[in-house]
Amino acid sequence: MSNRLTVAIQKSGRLASDSLELLDKCGIQFVQSKDKLFWFGKTLPVDLLLVRDDDIPQFLLDGVCDIGIVGENVADEARLEREAEQGPLQLPVLRRLNYGQCRLSIAVPETQTYDSVSDLNDQRIATSYPRLTRAFLDDAGVNAKIIKLSGSVEIAPSLGTADCIVDLVSTGSTLRANHLREVEDVMDSRAALYQSPNELAANKQVLLNRLLLRIDGVLQVKESKYVMLHAPRSALAQITELLPGAESPTVLPLEGETDRVAVHAVCTESVFWEHLEALKAIGASAVLVLPVEKMLA
Ligand code: PRP
Ligand code: ZN
Repeated sequence: MSNRLTVAIQKSGRLASDSLELLDKCGIQFVQSKDKLFWFGKTLPVDLLLVRDDDIPQFLLDGVCDIGIVGENVADEARLEREAEQGPLQLPVLRRLNYGQCRLSIAVPETQTYDSVSDLNDQRIATSYPRLTRAFLDDAGVNAKIIKLSGSVEIAPSLGTADCIVDLVSTGSTLRANHLREVEDVMDSRAALYQSPNELAANKQVLLNRLLLRIDGVLQVKESKYVMLHAPRSALAQITELLPGAESPTVLPLEGETDRVAVHAVCTESVFWEHLEALKAIGASAVLVLPVEKMLA
């Protein structure tokens, strides 16, 4: 029984580089193999499997990998497909991640009028997500023909093989390039970390817990800033309230000053210019905002 943890991520595509970056920030460095499918972890006993994102749910179920990062859209589609065939499917979500945000949307040709979801009755809808699409249409009481395609869904209407599509939209540029417009939101999605339903050996569970702590640290750091400023002692309470996501800041005396102090705080939410302007308005000066590199709660 191996005591190494295997993580599956997308080999190339929307989630690939962000997933690698996340693991890198967790301090895992890999020996990249020539076939590029399996990378050996050098700094932690955590290995990488680089595969097609659509295959990751099946790999988790089969225990080919212990954990995997994939879009919620892909995991949910796999869940529905499996449930239809063999009953309930366990694919526990360990963490929702902060990248890969997109939505699964219905899009129609720009020139086509669209008033409500009932306009989709008797239409041919092309998609790579037939189960999620069917569930949405059933909920809306719409009867349409779903055409399952594994790729290039966006060109189906111009080829005449479908009337409209259900596809992922992130920036919207694919839809624009194909003269399609979004009319309904089927689901919102982002990358998430899933666990295999197979039981994990105790030593691997320890390793997974360690990895999760680091992932939480990385996710938190993304927004976090270390803020330093000078402030009138009388405005301390107001200042603390204005610092986004800060708890009990450190207050330090300033040499030769009695009514002004230095305030240091970790802000765990985004710090915007508006926050700094508001701080200045109540007497803060010498405001510095510094990036936080690592954090362990
Ligand atoms: C999705 C979708 C579109 C594109 C939309 O593909 O199928 O092609 O992204 O992005 P945009 O709104 O920014 O133009 P994805 O990268 O998920 O590839 P996959 O379906 O092959 O995994
Ligand atoms: Zn895919």
